[in-house]
Amino acid sequence: MSVSQPWSAERALSIVAEHAHQRGALLPILHALQDTFGCIDEEAIPLLAGALNLSRADVHGVVSFYHDFRRTRPGRHTVKICRAEACQAMGADALLDHVRRRLTVDPHGTTADGVFTVEPVFCLGNCALSPAVMIDGTLHGRVGPERFDALTAELRDQTQTGGAR
Ligand code: FES
Repeated sequence: MSVSQPWSAERALSIVAEHAHQRGALLPILHALQDTFGCIDEEAIPLLAGALNLSRADVHGVVSFYHDFRRTRPGRHTVKICRAEACQAMGADALLDHVRRRLTVDPHGTTADGVFTVEPVFCLGNCALSPAVMIDGTLHGRVGPERFDALTAELRDQTQTGGAR
């Protein structure tokens, strides 16, 4: 599940300090910020520009270029659905359509209740067991619509009863 801290400029500056000595520090810093806060907060852009002696446009350009970087906080559970070749051949597109209808969410979006964020991705390294899905870092193979519903229903129940946080 996604557990992220609220934005803190102080924490962000300590992350910058941890990585600033690296060549090409911007990317590792952005990844660390996203791991910590769940997304790249709007306030991170000027903070990074100032700390790394870059323009805000430079920082913004990098954040926008890489689809991995989110500008809004994700749902409590992140569902990655592989759309690469092997999974496509085994019905990944139909699965994604099912997910969109079932959770009422667009790809890269978060459900209205904030429980799930759905991310189409390219290859989860589980091609032999396609279609592959990763939920909160755990791989699942041969996931058809029914199995997907069972996996997400379990998580939704846990969330509603306050079980998994
Ligand atoms: S193609 Fe889907 S896991 Fe590799």
